[in-house]
Amino acid sequence: MADMRCFIGGQWVGAASGKTFETRNPADTDEVVAVYPRCDASDTRQAIEAARQAQPQWAAVPAPKRGEIFFKAAQILESRADSVAREMTREEGKTLPEARGEVGRAINILRYFGGEGARLTGEVAPSERDRVLIQTYRRPLGVVGLIAPWNFPIAIPAWKTAPALISGNSVVLKPSDLAPLCAVRLVEALDEAGVTKGALNLVTGPGSTVGHEIVTNAHVRAISFTGSEATGSGIALEAAKRRARVQLEMGGKNPTIVLADALVDDAVNVVVNAAFFSTGQRCTATSRVIVEEPILDAFTNALVERTRRLKVGNGLEAGIDIGPSIDSKQLETVLEYVGIGQQEGATVKCGGERLSAGAHARGWFSSPAVLTDVEPAMRVAQEEIFGPVLTVLPARNRDHAIELANGVRFGLSAAVCTQSLTSAYEFIHRIEAGLVMVNLPSAGVEYHVPFGGSKASSMGMREQGPVAVDFYTELKTVYLKY
Ligand code: UN1
Repeated sequence: MADMRCFIGGQWVGAASGKTFETRNPADTDEVVAVYPRCDASDTRQAIEAARQAQPQWAAVPAPKRGEIFFKAAQILESRADSVAREMTREEGKTLPEARGEVGRAINILRYFGGEGARLTGEVAPSERDRVLIQTYRRPLGVVGLIAPWNFPIAIPAWKTAPALISGNSVVLKPSDLAPLCAVRLVEALDEAGVTKGALNLVTGPGSTVGHEIVTNAHVRAISFTGSEATGSGIALEAAKRRARVQLEMGGKNPTIVLADALVDDAVNVVVNAAFFSTGQRCTATSRVIVEEPILDAFTNALVERTRRLKVGNGLEAGIDIGPSIDSKQLETVLEYVGIGQQEGATVKCGGERLSAGAHARGWFSSPAVLTDVEPAMRVAQEEIFGPVLTVLPARNRDHAIELANGVRFGLSAAVCTQSLTSAYEFIHRIEAGLVMVNLPSAGVEYHVPFGGSKASSMGMREQGPVAVDFYTELKTVYLKY
């Protein structure tokens, strides 16, 4: 068991109250993974004050030099990648190969945004007036607050922290209470690499105190949040009161359309990956597969057969496809929705059961569920479940499929499986989603291109890729006469 500290003003410290909380392995709840300071509003205020004090000094480091610090942090994290991945699996539950992939993603993010340090360019424009030159350049906002979820415990903290810091802001990062360990490892690497003391702070504790202080504190100029829609909406309202910037990444009810001309085996692989890997706990996960009627039976049978073969268990063991739900509450939600689906008239073709015998006895496991006879208006076809539950909806034709796909409040990611270029482009053009995949899983994004959704899924500017720094900077427009 690891005894962890927060990072406030460049010091690893406990909560002033001395209070703590623990995390447990969701695959083996007898195991306490780590103990963390249970910080409150006053600890958080200290972190914000430290960030405020350190920001000018950090911003004075030339941006390409800030980038070099990131390159070093990437190297440090790389040297620890295997142990960080194991910690991730023990605390969050995803399989070890998935955890390794995610640590690799965080390393890439540090290198990519390190490079952005040399690319924080502005524009030069002509003036209406003689001998006047106009230019723009980016300025940091000041202190920014970053609130991260548990399901990507290092990638999301990295993809918020890196663009914030490279732009010259100082940061107060709050990881999720359910899996803060990898965020600590990220902060350790950045600190050891030489980020100015105080410019990067990490505070662990409840959303109701730590999160609330970040959201309401007048010194926090911008808040980037990934998590539930309800929390995100509350943050947007609070932030509006004091005109702080917000960037919200929230829910999804992502569709994959399988058209009659799709390669069935490939489509099954795409859908199984998108729906069940990472235990369906990705906001980009597919939770609705919309199948054109001519191949509905062939596809569904192949899907069910493949789903039944998936191995559920402790993600540290070789050959496991699906780990546990993050906690008892999330597992209850999954099982509850399977029940709701049945009450609504859906058929559970496979899975949807709590696994609690033998190797599954001490974890939050359930078997991956495929629900058929699903109507578009059912709750299981409209609400985010965030677990290994997939609904199958038949479509009469391509137009009907796209209409069904768009028939939810969310619009994060969407996929189509087809061999037709025309159908692919029709889909790309008409689908209401920020991320569009053709013959690829709806989940699993890359770090160097924009990420974000439409409709109720997102609010504010995009994360990742070159546009990520837009959220963390403001433009200064300079008029110069010579
Ligand atoms: C991915 O699909 O690779 O919280 C990333 C989430 C998303 C990230 C998904 N913000 O699941």
